[in-house]
Amino acid sequence: MWPFKTSVRFTEMDFRTDFHSHVLPGVDDGFRSVDKSVEALKRLKDIGLEHQFLTPHIYPELYPDNTPMQIRNVFDSCRAELESTGVACRIAGEHMVYESIEDEFPASDCLSMGQDFLLIEMSYAFESHNIRSFVFDLNTNGFHPVLAHPERYNYYSRSLVELKSIADIDTRFQLNILSLGGFYGNMAKEKAEAILEHGLYTFVGTDLHSLAQIDQLKSLRLQRKHVAAVEKLIENNELLWSGELSAGNANALSDSGKTKGIKWLA
Ligand SMILES: [Fe+2]
Repeated sequence: MWPFKTSVRFTEMDFRTDFHSHVLPGVDDGFRSVDKSVEALKRLKDIGLEHQFLTPHIYPELYPDNTPMQIRNVFDSCRAELESTGVACRIAGEHMVYESIEDEFPASDCLSMGQDFLLIEMSYAFESHNIRSFVFDLNTNGFHPVLAHPERYNYYSRSLVELKSIADIDTRFQLNILSLGGFYGNMAKEKAEAILEHGLYTFVGTDLHSLAQIDQLKSLRLQRKHVAAVEKLIENNELLWSGELSAGNANALSDSGKTKGIKWLA
């Protein structure tokens, strides 16, 4: 598509559905006011966005008010203003895998994506000791766990050995697109590239917390060798939004965009 370019602007790509954001105002460490959220969605609309998943942090210790009911109430109160920008919004959640989540997780009333894809995260400083058992429980109960920004977890090595073991127990990965621009540091960038080149991502998101990150998105350029793989992730986002991604074809997603012949990083 861009045969002579060594890099491609992210804004030139067909990124119409964002899998991950903190644009729902006043509920977490993302946007604080409806006005700012509306401003963000207008700017995202200007660079082509049409669909936004709102995925506030769900972590009782840090955000005790963020119950599914409360988040739905906040969404109901500002949905019309948010969508007046022309960007359609849906509510979901980014679930922290904390100590007692297996006892407290409301499987019958949780904030999953359309076809029971569930966005989960861990601390950047240490691995959740129960990540594997929780992922097992989710899969057993018909959910499809999606681990947010695996490239950002400092305790996972560039060898990807640990991450591959988590992918192998039916966990999908979501790329923070800004990781490819080095906006979270060189280590996250290198790991993002490696995970992408191994075909281990399924979805892509902005994880947007601020207006400044929209400027970063506008300046982001992708290496040409990564464009096809990111396009596949963009397509998966689209399928999820449109309801065409079902449990039946979801398993094929982890293999999509796989690049051959890439060596494991030392
Ligand atoms: Fe997030």
